Amino acid sequence: MADYPFFFTWAAQKHAKPVEMTGGEGAWFFTKDDGKWLDLGALSYQVNAGHGNKRIVEAIKRQADELCLSAPSSIFPAKVELANRLLAMAPPGFSKVFFTLGGAEANENAIKIARIVTGRHKLVSRYRSYHGASMGALTLTGDWRRVPLEPGIPGVVHVQDCYCDRCPFGHTLQTCKRECASNIDNTMKLEGPNTVAAVILEPVPGANGVLVPPAEYWPMVRKACDAEGALLIADEVLTGFGRTGKGFAVEHWGVVPDMITVAKGLGAGYATIGAVLVHERIAKHFDEKILACGLTYYAHPLACAAALETLNVYRDEKMFEHSAAMGPVLRRELEAIAARVGVRAMVRSLGLLGALEFEAPMAMWATLGTELAQRKLSLHVDGKRGTAIFAPPLCITEQELVTGMRSFGDAAVAAFGAKS
Ligand SMILES: Cc1ncc(COP(=O)(O)O)c(C=O)c1O
Repeated sequence: MADYPFFFTWAAQKHAKPVEMTGGEGAWFFTKDDGKWLDLGALSYQVNAGHGNKRIVEAIKRQADELCLSAPSSIFPAKVELANRLLAMAPPGFSKVFFTLGGAEANENAIKIARIVTGRHKLVSRYRSYHGASMGALTLTGDWRRVPLEPGIPGVVHVQDCYCDRCPFGHTLQTCKRECASNIDNTMKLEGPNTVAAVILEPVPGANGVLVPPAEYWPMVRKACDAEGALLIADEVLTGFGRTGKGFAVEHWGVVPDMITVAKGLGAGYATIGAVLVHERIAKHFDEKILACGLTYYAHPLACAAALETLNVYRDEKMFEHSAAMGPVLRRELEAIAARVGVRAMVRSLGLLGALEFEAPMAMWATLGTELAQRKLSLHVDGKRGTAIFAPPLCITEQELVTGMRSFGDAAVAAFGAKS
């Protein structure tokens, strides 16, 4: 690879795989070598509104002409309207939005708020989770990305996951006692009364394999948090904005968290923006007390305008509804692939977020990468975890989805062999 004068993220520099994107349209992006790729991963799970969306680009240009400089205390129409629209999307009782630059510091700010409001310091998160690459968010993260940076921030306790295909408590679906949820309650009790400030969870752990929880999971965790006086934070950075077929994934279980963190689909990749949505019962704490949080560039006008227009696009093009409608199509195609390949494959999905977990040796994963590149399919494959994760732009058509999934199936058969 050519030597570039900047670092590539999450890569040994000599093995980074840069992509020279020149544009895109809908579920497709284009590369300088005349490549046309079908994006089954929404790049880094953020391009929910699709590639090359002219409405969002135009909204950014209009905002640039009007007001283009950030100032933490500034008010302008796009900021006010965006906050109102986010609160209208949130469960009942949410009253304030705290804008951030992205997902990691949405989580940083949520845990700071939880510590300030509760006066407690401990935080509970899961092993199979990713919450971002800043120091606090990385400490919350339970997966391999946390380890090189340890010790992180003090007070973080990790618990086992809702990983039904490989239940950490040794159960099958028939014998399941929902220990993944009661374990959170037990952990809080063992950590000591009045010590846990918050439990932070992805509604469906995304990058760690789309671990859809049992129906009782979120209501049980909510009950446990209430009993212990801990706050419940839903990290909807990946699952928010229609990814699972609902505005927010917590809606699947009718649970009202205390805070919801968002990013990715909020600006759909067109601008750097995230947010913490805060329930009134937490927000009111700061009516008279100082909110000791904030960076210079928060709520930049260009980002607010981009996010506001992104929400308009979702609404006008009924993208959340489309994601819900495409969920069964994605599921059917995932199951068809699992039935075709010559290795054991597990299927998990909710809306337009799906995973295949293959029991295949590492060498086969390299072949899968080559096969996908030949077919110009872009998605998240991870040989270490054994997963391929599907999260296409929400505007993908049924035909594009079916064609893409069948093409993935061909690549998987080429890599892992066919069922005999
Ligand atoms: C669930 C979740 N939380 C937080 C983050 C971090 O977001 P960002 O990269 O915008 O900081 C991610 C990113 O992948 C994520 O998937």
